[in-house]
Amino acid sequence: MTGLRSLRATAGEGGRAAAAGDQRRRSATRARRAAVAAGVAAAMLAGAALVAAALPQPAAAQAARTPLPVLAPARTGSRCVEPPELMRRLHMQLLRHQRDLTVHAGERGSKYRLQGCIDCHASAATGSVAAAPTDFCVGCHAYAAVRIDCFECHNPKAAPLALAKGQR
Ligand code: HEC
Ligand code: HEC
Ligand code: HEC
Repeated sequence: MTGLRSLRATAGEGGRAAAAGDQRRRSATRARRAAVAAGVAAAMLAGAALVAAALPQPAAAQAARTPLPVLAPARTGSRCVEPPELMRRLHMQLLRHQRDLTVHAGERGSKYRLQGCIDCHASAATGSVAAAPTDFCVGCHAYAAVRIDCFECHNPKAAPLALAKGQR
């Protein structure tokens, strides 16, 4: 009888001890999970910060970092002839290639024609891509210390119709 009771008591205590052990293990697991989650979140934040740093930022957000040129926006609701990140790197090749196609092969009306760039990128204030310091072509070139002679012959102004269409 005593034996049985003490056996039960022992079992009961053992059960409680086991339960307490479970509890400890569970809360340890929870703590580990929380730590892992916090770590992952921190890593993600760091990653996001890296990605954000690698992307071009609006001038205001960049105030404390490298300043970027302030450029007049393109015609409202339009899309460039190629993705802007490609255009940033490739526009000179596209333009030179298009000039050769036009001048030597007589190709007209291509989407890469210079007048097309100007019609979308001329600023509201000047109607030009190369009059004011914030005008599109000259704004970026001044920043990058690039000189082009294109506008000694080509008119840097948008066609009046293009300006009207852009509702500037
Ligand atoms: C139909 C309108 C349109 C035409 C045509 C066009 N663009 Fe764009 N371009 C845009 C838009 C919209 C953007 C996105 C940036 C913006 O809103 O200013 C852009 C972006 C760019 C960028 C990147 C600007 C930046 O801030 O990094 C360059 C460079 C560029 N265009 C050059 C050209 C050149 C050169 C041509 C002619 C071969 C051209 N574009 C023709 C509308 C146009
Ligand atoms: C000495 C004058 C002169 C200079 C400088 C000049 N061009 Fe041209 N460009 C012309 C003439 C003339 C044509 C032929 C126009 C036509 O037949 O429609 C032409 C045609 C073009 C064309 C094809 C037509 C079009 O509207 O797209 C492109 C593109 C072009 N030039 C780009 C440039 C670029 C970029 C520069 C600067 C690196 C430049 N040109 C400098 C005179 C010049
Ligand atoms: C986002 C900045 C940016 C904008 C906007 C921009 N350019 Fe450029 N452009 C550059 C850079 C940077 C170079 C020099 C690239 C190099 O040297 O490899 C360049 C080079 C060029 C060249 C070649 C010059 C040479 O000496 O070979 C031409 C032509 C040109 N740009 C035309 C234009 C025209 C036209 C526009 C407006 C429609 C324009 N660019 C707008 C950044 C820009």
